[in-house]
Amino acid sequence: MSILVLASGGGSNFQALLDDADLRPHLRGLICNRPGAGCLERARASGLASQVLDHQGFESRQAFDEALAQAILDINPDWIVMAGFMRILGEPFMREFDGKMVNIHPSLLPKYKGLNTHQRALDAGDTHAGVSVHWATAELDGGPLIAQRSVAIEPSDDASTLAARVLQQEHQVYPAVCRALTQGRLQMKNGTTWLDGQPMDHWDRF
Ligand code: GRF
Repeated sequence: MSILVLASGGGSNFQALLDDADLRPHLRGLICNRPGAGCLERARASGLASQVLDHQGFESRQAFDEALAQAILDINPDWIVMAGFMRILGEPFMREFDGKMVNIHPSLLPKYKGLNTHQRALDAGDTHAGVSVHWATAELDGGPLIAQRSVAIEPSDDASTLAARVLQQEHQVYPAVCRALTQGRLQMKNGTTWLDGQPMDHWDRF
């Protein structure tokens, strides 16, 4: 089964997918919405096909969403993996790919949807931060969970030291989830995540 990656930034999560020998044969390409983003160089260096679809070149959100949807349909992947894709997509787009698209978010969802997750965890005095992998649905950072890993917050942490430790976990959990996707072990059905034919209720399986 094939995977298309969507990314906007440096692409360290994308690199973790590229570096996974089991996953690499399943990767079909990268679509990036920011010209010059680091993820594009990573794709070039690894020989993976990449495309830039610059959202700034479109006159409306809808026009960008439609162009992205068409680019995805042209590639026709089994799975769409968002790896730091920093663009909110409209409901028609999300519905079209419902159950085929996953996202990684640097917080223990449902806490801290949106941006600045690590600073918000620090400001709240939380003892733990972490990462969530979930189905990307029309609700921003709100689709059914697939996996979580938690990271203890140290008294000396600031947002960047915490982000670095959470990223280490991201780089392990996302390839593991993506391997399960390519093996046909994971599905979203009736708003629930299923693993190996069973509904999931623990997020520590990956
Ligand atoms: C990661 O923290 C990811 O969880 C979030 O954006 C960041 C992307 O980092 N969605 P990178 O581009 O993969 O290095």
